Amino acid sequence: MIIDQLNEPVPGSSLLSTPTGDAYTDPTIFEREQAEIFEKMWNCVMREDSLATAGEWKTITIGREEIIVVRTRKSGIRAYYNVCRHRGMRVCTSGEGKNKTLQCGYHAWTYALEGDLVAAPNLTSMPDVDRKEYGLKPVHVRTWLGYVWISLADDPPSFDETVLGEVKTRFGDVESIDNYGVENLKCGESKTYDVQANWKLIIENFMECYHCATIHPELTEVIPEFADGLASQRKNGEVHGASFGDDIQGFTVDGSSGVSSLPAIAPGQDRKYYAITVKPQVFINTVPDHVIIHRMFPVSESRTIVVCDWLFQPQVIDEGMEIANSVELFHRVNQQDFEACEQTQPSMSSKAYDHGGALVPSEHHIEEFHQWWAARLGGNVPVPA
Ligand code: FES
Ligand SMILES: [Fe+2]
Repeated sequence: MIIDQLNEPVPGSSLLSTPTGDAYTDPTIFEREQAEIFEKMWNCVMREDSLATAGEWKTITIGREEIIVVRTRKSGIRAYYNVCRHRGMRVCTSGEGKNKTLQCGYHAWTYALEGDLVAAPNLTSMPDVDRKEYGLKPVHVRTWLGYVWISLADDPPSFDETVLGEVKTRFGDVESIDNYGVENLKCGESKTYDVQANWKLIIENFMECYHCATIHPELTEVIPEFADGLASQRKNGEVHGASFGDDIQGFTVDGSSGVSSLPAIAPGQDRKYYAITVKPQVFINTVPDHVIIHRMFPVSESRTIVVCDWLFQPQVIDEGMEIANSVELFHRVNQQDFEACEQTQPSMSSKAYDHGGALVPSEHHIEEFHQWWAARLGGNVPVPA
């Protein structure tokens, strides 16, 4: 069996097949995913305000590369491979810091925040060395929704067609997410989950709600329609937000009221939950009074770090308003989802899963994700028959 034949309908059945188990366990497939997906597409890596002042930097791993993200004095946020152009030592050897320049700890080659080589022992005796050419190798950077997005591709895919395209597909336009003013929100809580599961299991889980009635008691209380198993991401192909239950006051763990609604949301966005999957590693969840954003960082074929941020209007955070009940709802959802993914991962290498699993009709839209994944990998990844 090859990936080209994914999701063939089982004859006479309402089920579609999934990729075979080794798509979730084979290190060589994971390496191809790193090369063809994470090192080529746009990755949402950190909040812009986590680099508040010039000279602040953080390192982040994307695919198989370590990247320095730094706020410069005049050029906004820039990003570079964390590789010294002299003999290759990591320039930044810890996760974050603040410096006027970036200096390698081996032979002291020193780079401006804008990347140029500005100093090195005996550099003046080597006037032929071009300081730009021997500067840190840059990668492409964008900012959107108050986050830094990075692509390692020499020629990155169109941000409009890929990232914004996912929003258009979900909402029918980009303006609908603009209403939430996400770039002006402040992070009230951030949690990091170390999930022992393949990143694709986490995406597939996020895309369906067939599991909601079983594992998400609090969520289905707040959004009763989720108990029917239909994901809010689509309903009969139309833009659909999942409605709060009649007696529910807010998107909180006990249905009590949250904080006041974001000022510019449309009437149709009130008392509704929307979810968007931005492939390959972002989930955006919107509710009337806050926005929840997940960023995934695959570590191996069986381990994924997920960072989840809860974003509120700045005054909510600055004035110390109550957000614990809001945070707790999706924190529980995250724990429930990730536990399910972790309980699934070991079975991916079982003989019983050699031929993969099945998608029921309310999960059939996950086929699009599988086809996208197969296409990114060239459509001919061998998997056992
Ligand atoms: S390897 Fe960085 S200065 Fe030599
Ligand atoms: Fe879930």
